[in-house]
Amino acid sequence: MKIKLKKRQEISFKKNKFYFLPFFSGEKIKFDGFEDKSDILKEASLVKEGKSKMFFSDNSDFYLVNLGEKKNWNQRKFLVNLRKAVLVLKENRNKEAVFVLDRIIPEKADLPNLTKQLSENILLAFYEFVRYKKKPKEGWHKINIIEIVWPDNLKYQKELDNGIIVGRAVNFTRDLSNTPGKDMTPQGLVEAAKKVKNEGNNISLEVFDEKKLKKLSMGGILGVSQGSVLKPRLIILKYFGRAKSKEIDLSFVGKGITFDTGGLDIKPFDSMKGMYMDMSGGSAVLGAILAISKIKIPLNIICLIPAVENMPSGEALRQGDILRSYSGKTIEVLSTDAEGRIILADAISYSIKNHKPKIIVDVATLTGASLVALGYRATALFTNILNTEELIRVGEDSGDYVWPLPCWEEYEEEIKGTFADVANLGKYLKQGGAISGALFLKYFVEDNPWIHLDIAPTMASIENQGLAKGSTGSGTRYLIKLAQDFQKIEKNL
Ligand code: BES
Ligand code: MN
Ligand code: ZN
Repeated sequence: MKIKLKKRQEISFKKNKFYFLPFFSGEKIKFDGFEDKSDILKEASLVKEGKSKMFFSDNSDFYLVNLGEKKNWNQRKFLVNLRKAVLVLKENRNKEAVFVLDRIIPEKADLPNLTKQLSENILLAFYEFVRYKKKPKEGWHKINIIEIVWPDNLKYQKELDNGIIVGRAVNFTRDLSNTPGKDMTPQGLVEAAKKVKNEGNNISLEVFDEKKLKKLSMGGILGVSQGSVLKPRLIILKYFGRAKSKEIDLSFVGKGITFDTGGLDIKPFDSMKGMYMDMSGGSAVLGAILAISKIKIPLNIICLIPAVENMPSGEALRQGDILRSYSGKTIEVLSTDAEGRIILADAISYSIKNHKPKIIVDVATLTGASLVALGYRATALFTNILNTEELIRVGEDSGDYVWPLPCWEEYEEEIKGTFADVANLGKYLKQGGAISGALFLKYFVEDNPWIHLDIAPTMASIENQGLAKGSTGSGTRYLIKLAQDFQKIEKNL
């Protein structure tokens, strides 16, 4: 699929295409290049606020959308409308499309970022997970070209190209997350990491197997994995975008539970449903570093993905077991279903000790409680860096929306262990469960600058987002944007 930015004057009506024609209500409807097509203008004037209509004329498809009033414009709404248009285009199976958008971008819009979002969101909306489906006779639908009438079309080619890199990376993340647990095993994640290493720039890969994990005393990763026949791995990818320096700017740690049954504290039917996606933090890290290395962001970044399956069996972790983590701190296992934090603890401590990153960022489908707190529309953000406003802005600009929850010192007493240093379950069980999860990680992070993204809320898509069923790839865009804005964020530490 090609995406091209065009000037108003370059567009004229041609048959057999799909035209996306959005407009504001309360303004005179005007589509440049379509002045002589009065039937379309008339049809558009009949579409009510917030509604859309398909109109067929001259062998072409016209998708008319009334966006409401111009003063109510915002980037979020614009992007949802854009994605929905791509879905309609896909359903119509047109191969060529023209999106006439220049008159619906208000002056206040952040055009560079919006241009990046444009190509990115077209790819996100077009994506569908079809790996296990029979190819239809007519083949999977392909779009040859989308031409976009856009303000200042020549200025933003770089942003458009970056959006394509990012969109592809998020879809790569979604492919990994959508792959069932049978195929996306710990070794499956290693294979994905190999692909990232081969396709990216300046990336090296190291994989710790069970023997090495034992040698390093990674009791957390080993403990959670012991019930499964699949052996654990710790995947370490190193991206040196700043070759002259050995200093590590960022460390990305992604939860890689390839299937979460809950272990002996087994999950009921409804809760186990999407648990093949419990490695979505890990896949977000893989997608992000791939894009970062392609954009060639000048930073040094280490990625760590503990990859483990959480299964019950005669050899599984029990309630009350005490694990000695890599850091030496002991963990009291009060629930075998709070496993993500245990494997992350080892990876976080390893990175702090061996890489000394300026900021450590973990991404994890950590708690159902974060979903209870926020619904499906925001990732939970925790940090011991003071400036949360800046971190919310990164979410807004990237399209991966985040919202902060506290990780105050007062909460610490809730995860104190009785017979070990720390418990993997809060004293008040699921009350404030997202916070207990974060505090557990913070206990291992200590005073190192840290950001924790609990992506359980945004792991899977919901209706009306203009996204296919399954994984959203959430976290991927956040990490990329964080890397792009690193200098700014570092200053505020
Ligand atoms: N992977 C789950 C969290 C989850 C739930 C992710 C729903 C995505 C959607 C995690 O390992 C888990 O089981 N958490 C428990 C923690 C509890 C035992 C303290 C939970 O949320 O119930
Ligand atoms: Mn669990
Ligand atoms: Zn889990």
